[in-house]
Amino acid sequence: MVGYALRANPPYTEISLSRIAYVNGRYVPHRDACVHVEDRGYQFSDGVYEVCEVRAARLVDERRHMDRLERSLKELRISMPMPRSALAMVLRETVARNRVRDGILYLQITRGVARRDHAFPPPGTLPSVVITAKNYDLDRLEQGASEGIAVIGVPENRWPRVDIKSVSLLPNVLAKQAAREAGAKEAWFVDAEGRVTEGSSSNAWIVTREGAVVTRPADFGILRGITRTVVLDVIAAHGLTLEERAFTMEEAYAAREAFVTSATQFVMPVVRIDGRPVGNGAPGLIASALRRDYHDHAETA
Ligand code: PDD
Repeated sequence: MVGYALRANPPYTEISLSRIAYVNGRYVPHRDACVHVEDRGYQFSDGVYEVCEVRAARLVDERRHMDRLERSLKELRISMPMPRSALAMVLRETVARNRVRDGILYLQITRGVARRDHAFPPPGTLPSVVITAKNYDLDRLEQGASEGIAVIGVPENRWPRVDIKSVSLLPNVLAKQAAREAGAKEAWFVDAEGRVTEGSSSNAWIVTREGAVVTRPADFGILRGITRTVVLDVIAAHGLTLEERAFTMEEAYAAREAFVTSATQFVMPVVRIDGRPVGNGAPGLIASALRRDYHDHAETA
């Protein structure tokens, strides 16, 4: 079968191959992978997701991603569609069928298909499960990291439960598009007090002039990123000073370094914020060291 590549913005470049998606119990060609029009994910964004890195054909930090998935489902009272052990097998099978070596796995679970009604569907409605996996171009990602990215600030306009990894991402979509249109790669949400919460698809960090690494506490104002959790371990291993507190955009402008973390970018240096260079305008030493050592601290099953 002839494969095809979707167009994607850096830092990914998809590698062309015939892809397979898992949809509600079946492995189907990616181009035919569909859910019903009355899926509650489609109608109401009534679902959750996870994005997990695949490295050397293995899932990175699967345990933590599954823990977070179960938590998100519980918070929204969506049932786990299958036992965790069965889900783990399907994840592996999807990675294998797509011949993913270095890439990402996407998993989405919604409240299922039912006649449109805002309230929960009848008991017994099965959650919908979609899993996809794709390779990306690691060299290109590394090249991007060696250059660093620009970010812009945008007003925080999301609901207070962004600790739940829900597929309701409209503010994130609009923020990311605003970044693109400003020539930047990421947007940082800034709350009513002028303090950064997180990026549209990443956690936000700065390094102060004194060398302290600062990131917002993972309360209800941000997603508790898995990469963030691992990077906290790397910071401890390096003996760096950590300040888990909110920081303002002014602090970020004056910072020595800045970076973002996510499963798709690991530790990505930020070199411009709202058009102003961070530090000397090049990826910082601490961000680069955290990126270098990140995978030594992540769990690979
Ligand atoms: N996003 N904050 C937000 C809003 C995110 O969407 C993400 C990840 C993170 C970082 O979480 P983690 O380290 O677990 O990837 C923080 C994924 C990658 C996405 O939506 O594609």
